[in-house]
Amino acid sequence: MKKVGVAVLGLGVVGGGTCRILIDRKKQIAEEYGVDIDIAAVLDRIPERVTNLGLDLSILAKDIDEICDNPNVNIVVECMGGSEPARTFLIKALEAGKSIVTSNKEMFAKFWPDLEKAAAKTGAGLYYEATTGGGMPIIRTMTQAMQANGIQEIKAIINGTTNYILTRMTEEGADYQQVLKDAQALGYAEANPVADVEGYDSSYKLSILSSLAFNKRVPVDIIYREGITKITAEDIRIAKDMGFVIKLLAIAKQRGDKIEARVHPVFLPKSHPLANVNGSFNAVFVVGDAVGDIMLYGRGAGALPTGSAIVSDVVFCARQVEHARYPEMFNVMTQDQIVSDFESDYYLRLNARDVSGVIADIASVFKKYKVSISQMRQDESKEVIPVIFITHKTTEKAMKQAIEEIKSLPNVLSVENVIRVEK
Ligand code: HSE
Repeated sequence: MKKVGVAVLGLGVVGGGTCRILIDRKKQIAEEYGVDIDIAAVLDRIPERVTNLGLDLSILAKDIDEICDNPNVNIVVECMGGSEPARTFLIKALEAGKSIVTSNKEMFAKFWPDLEKAAAKTGAGLYYEATTGGGMPIIRTMTQAMQANGIQEIKAIINGTTNYILTRMTEEGADYQQVLKDAQALGYAEANPVADVEGYDSSYKLSILSSLAFNKRVPVDIIYREGITKITAEDIRIAKDMGFVIKLLAIAKQRGDKIEARVHPVFLPKSHPLANVNGSFNAVFVVGDAVGDIMLYGRGAGALPTGSAIVSDVVFCARQVEHARYPEMFNVMTQDQIVSDFESDYYLRLNARDVSGVIADIASVFKKYKVSISQMRQDESKEVIPVIFITHKTTEKAMKQAIEEIKSLPNVLSVENVIRVEK
């Protein structure tokens, strides 16, 4: 039977979960897939993590060079997170002819071409199922099961932390700050939540998914990004009343010879399949021109779900005679290939004085910029009234111009929030 040695870099939650599965399923994997996988080396600063997994301390390497020089290591699994030193370690491993399996979305989204270049030199494999959607097999679905399709659209909830926060705000009517604090106390959100709540994490994952979808690298920095920090309990309440939920979506669409790639909160009709993806769950909705709609749903994070994706990559990699190459990652999409003035319906919430003509003034600004109103509501009559509009499809540019002019109307006191509506 083929013997395969794995080195695991980082024995935190994901690395620990991966080792657990590799140990517990060793026999079953050998019987079913004909590969006998051993953990041949590990790299971590905390020796107890090695012994807690029941592994022998003798496999704890002192540095990455020791792993690169170890002839028993065939595959390096990286679960360290962050750009560096993960990138440097993996380039070294690839140059030493070791295949790599990574769960590190930030590093992978930013440095995919560097890794591909190093891998191509030695013929080593590059596997990254766990970077996106945790336990959901979305990467293999897109690379191995959708060859017959041109991908037209991706809509995804690919950040569990923000989905957990928005779900609790929806269920409890609670404020963003209060739920964030709870999520941090429960370990759902990081002490520094910026990567999640400002949408960076989703944009790394969307960069990976959209690059696969459009066969061209979509760099992170050309993806439009907006997080959830401006969503208030009031917006959530109004959304609910009007038959919507608010979700942070990652969206990529083919638009002629251009694409749209964006991460931002949206009003989503309650009937949309993604509207019912709650808590820390993830889901990816893909539209292929042959297959139509596909949706994957599952746990996007955690020791065993992410470990499941990593071990699947390890087994897949171990059985390959020749690894797939991705030369298209050297063909990089530029800002002018992105639709910047994309069209959308909008939700607009503002505060105005309850005086005659205020709505007519706002409507005349909308008319000037050809923004058509689909719904309007005005909450209880007080001196200051909250007014809510949902528009029909309009361009980003027209909406921005209209909002700037509405802000300067004498009886409009403030524009409180603007959120796109996704049908
Ligand atoms: N921070 C990520 C999330 C973890 O909240 O979904 C998995 O990438």
